[in-house]
Order: sequence, then structure tokens, then C-alpha cells
Amino acid sequence: MSHDTPGSTATAAATSQQGDALENLLHENRKFAPSEDFAANAVVGAEAYAEAEADRPAFWAKQARELLTWNKDFTQALDWSNPPFAKWFVGGEVNAAYNALDRHVENGLGDRVAIYFEGEPGDTRSYTYAELTEEVKKAANAFESLGVAKGDRVAVYLPMIPEAVITLLACARIGAVHSVVFGGFSSDALRSRIEDAQAKLVVTADGTYRRGKPSALKSAVDEALANDGHTVQNVVVVKRNGQDVDWHAGRDHWWADTVEAASAEHTAVGHDSEHPLFILYTSGTTGKPKGILHTTGGFLTQTAYTHKAVFDLHPETDVYWCTADVGWVTGHSYVAYAPLINGATQVMYEGTPDSPHQGRWWEIVQKYKVSILYTAPTAIRTFMKWGRDIPDKYDLSSIRVLGSVGEPINPEAWMWYRDVIGGSGGKKNPAPIVDTWWQTETGAQMIAPLPGVTATKPGSAQVPLPGIAVDVVDENGVSVPNGHGGFLVIREPWPAMLRGIWGDPERFKETYWSRFEAMYFAGDGAKKDEDGDIWLLGRVDDVMNISGHRLSTTEIESALVSHPAVAEAAVVGAADETTGQAVVAFVILRGDAVDSGDEIVQDLRNHVGKEIGPIAKPKTILVVPELPKTRSGKIMRRLLKDVAEGRDVGDATTLADNTVMAQIAASLKK
Ligand code: WT7
Repeated sequence: MSHDTPGSTATAAATSQQGDALENLLHENRKFAPSEDFAANAVVGAEAYAEAEADRPAFWAKQARELLTWNKDFTQALDWSNPPFAKWFVGGEVNAAYNALDRHVENGLGDRVAIYFEGEPGDTRSYTYAELTEEVKKAANAFESLGVAKGDRVAVYLPMIPEAVITLLACARIGAVHSVVFGGFSSDALRSRIEDAQAKLVVTADGTYRRGKPSALKSAVDEALANDGHTVQNVVVVKRNGQDVDWHAGRDHWWADTVEAASAEHTAVGHDSEHPLFILYTSGTTGKPKGILHTTGGFLTQTAYTHKAVFDLHPETDVYWCTADVGWVTGHSYVAYAPLINGATQVMYEGTPDSPHQGRWWEIVQKYKVSILYTAPTAIRTFMKWGRDIPDKYDLSSIRVLGSVGEPINPEAWMWYRDVIGGSGGKKNPAPIVDTWWQTETGAQMIAPLPGVTATKPGSAQVPLPGIAVDVVDENGVSVPNGHGGFLVIREPWPAMLRGIWGDPERFKETYWSRFEAMYFAGDGAKKDEDGDIWLLGRVDDVMNISGHRLSTTEIESALVSHPAVAEAAVVGAADETTGQAVVAFVILRGDAVDSGDEIVQDLRNHVGKEIGPIAKPKTILVVPELPKTRSGKIMRRLLKDVAEGRDVGDATTLADNTVMAQIAASLKK
């Protein structure tokens, strides 16, 4: 098996192909200007663009000083003397937890609700800022008493419960670096992440609930730590669903016995602006997930600014709900950090949208009077499928801003979101939609309308945010004119940018900074329409986007070939109506393996589930006699994608063996 290096693939072909499919969209001429009322009350107006344009670092320095309380002021906004390694707010010292919590209490907001928690089984809890501050102080003391010191790594494997936010902020408070692993990843995936980051502590729960049933988490931690040779000294376990767990005396501690029992006195000290805040693993073009490293001052500044500007946040009156799990970057930037830094009230929900019924989300919106809702297109398309009579049964009139993230939102879903959710109850001015483009690596939103300024357009993320320099370039790195497509790049450093890949500075340069001279290559194809608005066209590398979750074709191929029955595997992301893309795998079985049909397919799906996690299980696995390869041995995924999407196979002239596609077609007919 051979793999493409980032950006050097048949990307141009991929881009133009996707471009053609979306060509008609680029003539989208519906535009929705903000209502007069909305524009008049907007937190950020059009002047922000000019201000940032005049002096980008000074613009961000102003935001940093306005949005955060610094223990020590910084002396320089940006140090870009050693690209691509940026330093923002040089010399400053700041504490993320103090900014998210203590200072609001000091400012008289202690009684404001920080989190309304809605558990899957229907249990609820709420935390005021004063209460959340106390919990985080206790957790900080507890983690310190377990030997966690500044700079140590803490692995977090928790469901969507308030303890997840408390854990992240407690780590930030003491300068420990959290590394959250999504609960849908397997014990193997957890183990490799714990090992890569050399975590000292793991925070987990006995389990959670999924569609009304208990589901385990701690058992995966036990499996991940089963062999010696790891660095974990302690495991703190939240009791969530009460299921039985194995117990390793000396290593395992109940949250109730450590955190709840700890002192609620804890003073937050300032950490250097560039002190590591967290690592979050994400899939790239190679088999091994990358530990994306974010630091403190710049991350907090840009997440807080964008949260305020893009959602038009009025923290005194808004109720904000971001549906993302804390296991993904959206749950870091826009659940654990930005809303609390901005003193907002937010909703947190543990479960799935269909439990116990398909109106659960709308019931939550109605109950808490959610005014800002931030979710993914895949969820919107699912609701469309379920039908509008479900949301129509609820009072959604509180909603005034709707956000979208994670994948391109098709205009049809965009219009449905606007009419059915944003225009619920026959509102005269439906809520504006902000489609936000960003990545784990960018740390915060980069391209999005400003709801009080931009006339929004169904399907397009439109414009770079103030202080962000995004462009679309051709394969030589030359900016394309309006009406043309190419590769999305970022031309100037931005505050929340990743500072590197954990333990691998070379890979950081190679992955993001080598495709184009002095530009960050995002891995996305994009087009500028006639107005210069940006349309995202999906990845141009081997990264797939399934329900807004990022998965690597290579990683799933590696998992498949690690199964004894598999000789070779090729994975593609095929277009899917609901999930955006779906994983389709083509496998060649070993000579001695029996093609038992459904049985082997089921076995392979489970194997991928075990190696990576249930989210990575291929939707379809096709057993084939051969794979299409170029003369240099590179798998031509483009052709497999044609097959998976039911299209006529495109140009196959560069294949080493041009009968291969016919063989595959014949085997699939069987
Ligand atoms: C990739 C990053 C950003 C948090 C969730 C995903 C795709 C993200 C959009 C959007 C079109 C989008 C891109 C990007 N993506 N937002 N609004 N429109 N595509 O973070 O897992 O790091 O994935 O998601 O392809 O590169 P991630």
C-alpha cells in the first residue's frame, strides 16, 4: 500500500470534480440581510474589518486586553520571527480558569447560571458561576494532591457531563495540559493517545447513557492501562450511571472521594501566554493521529472574540447551546472555554437527539429558552428527514442566532434550518444563520458571516473574520480571481493557531507549511464566487468527514489490514445524504481467508470498531479481487469513489492494469 503525501495528490482533479458538482450553487443569488433591529443591536459592526485590516496584531492585542484579565500584561502582540512557530501576547501571563470563573464571581455575577445540564435519562443539574468556580477549585486541589503539576498531561475520557468542563478548567487552572479522547474511541485508540502524550492522570466515568441504556467507559480505560509501560499513576472516576466497574486499589479514586472531598480554596496563578493549554488528537493523511497543540493566551482571545462576534452574544440575556461533544474541538473552544470566558449561560446535553423521542432537542430549546444554537449540518439533515412537524410542536421563538459547523451545509438544509428552526412560529425575521469554517488546528472560527453585518447566503461560509487572512490559491500558490476555485490557505498567523504537533515539530512544518510557500495549507478545496464569498468544497486530502467527525482513510485502512483475513484495503469517503460522507472500504482477502460474505464483513466492521472506535466502522465493505493502482503503486481512490458513489468510472488510463476496474465491477455484480 502506498499513500499520498499531503497536498501532492490528485487534488486538482478532486477539486474540480467537487467544483463541478457545486457549480450551480455558486450562482446562489438568495441573500438575507440582517434585519434593522438585529443590526442596530449587534455586538460587533462592520468597522471591525477595517480596524483589523489597518493593524492586525494591534487589533488582536486590543481584543486580548478587552476580553481577558491578565495577571501580567504582554509586551508584544505577535512574535513571528521564527515561522511557522508563532508566539502571541509575548510576556503576558493569564489563567484560563480565573478568566472563565473567578473573575465573574468577583464582578458580582456569581449567581448567574453558567451551565444548565440535561442528562440523557432526564436528570438535570445547574451550576451558577459561583458554584462552578468552587467545583473547579476542588478539582484543581484534588489533581494537585494526586501529584499533577504544571506541564503534566491529563487524559480525559468522559461523557458530556459537567465534570468534563470542570476537569478541563481544573487542568488549565494548575497549568496541566489536558488531552481529551472522545468517548466513542476504543481502548486501543485511548491507549495510543495516553502513551503519545505520556499522561500522568486519567479522568473518566463509570459510563454514560446511550438511547436510554447504560454504556461503559471505565472498562476501556482499564484495557488501555492493562499493560505496564504507561505513565499513568492515577485514575479518577466520576460515578455517572452506577454500573459495576473493576477497581484497581491505589490507582483508582472516585471523584466523590477526591474532588468532592477537596478544599474549595485555590488561588489561580498566571501562566505564560504560550503555556500549553491542551492537546487534541485529530486524524491526518497518515495512519497516526496528530496531537494538535494549543497554548493559552491566543487560544482564549480568539475563541472568546469569535464567540461574541459571530453569535452576537449578549451574555446577560442569551442562553447558548452548542451541541458538540467535549471530545471534539468544538466542545473545547465553544463549550468549555469561550462561553465561560464571556460569562454566558449555556446548556449542556448528554444524549442523542432521538432519545427518548425525536423532539428531545426542541424540548430542550423550549425549556431553557435557548437563543443561540450551534450544531452540525448532519444533525440538521437528520431533522429534515424526520419531518418539520416534530420541531413545529415546540415553541422555538427564543432562537435568534443559528450556527453551523463541521462540514459544508447544503443550501437546502440551510433554508430548512432558517425557515423551520429560525423562523419557528411564523417570525417576521427568521434568525440569521452563521456557517462557521474552522478546524482543530485553527482552534477557533476563521470564516463566518457576522450576523449583524453580513447578508447571508445559503451554503457559503462567506468571509474571513476580522483579523483573519484567508485566501483561495491555485496549485502554484497564486490567489485565484472571483469565480474560480483552488485550495484554501491562511496567509497570516492567527492567535488560536496550533503551535505544533505534540512531540513532532517537523511533521507540523511538513503537514501544513510545505505545500505552499509561507502559507498554511488547510487541506480543503474552496471557491470564490462572483461576490468574492468563499464556498468550502470538502477535503482535498485523505481525510474524510463523517457527520462532521474527522476520520482518516489511511487510519481505517491500517485497521483493516491488521485483521488476519485482509491482504489489502482501500477506504474512501462516499457522498451520503445525511452524514455528508460515509466510510466505504474495498478489501482484498488473503489467499487462505474464506469469503464468508456477511460474516466476514461484520467481523471486519467490528475489528475497525475495536481498533479505532464505533464511529470509524465502515458503512459498506466490499470484498474485491484487485485494487486500482498506478504504475508507481499508488491506490487510485478517485476511481473507487466513483464506484462507491455509483458513477461511471472516470479516467483510468494511468492504471498499471486497466482490467482492474472491470474485475471490481464484475465482483460487485455477483
Ligand atoms: C474540517 C476540520 C471546526 C470544528 C469541527 C471540525 C471541515 C469544518 C466547516 C464548514 C465546510 C467545514 C473542513 C475542515 N469543516 N467546518 N463550516 N464548512 N467544511 O473540526 O475535525 O478539525 O475538521 O472540517 O473540511 O478542514 P475538524
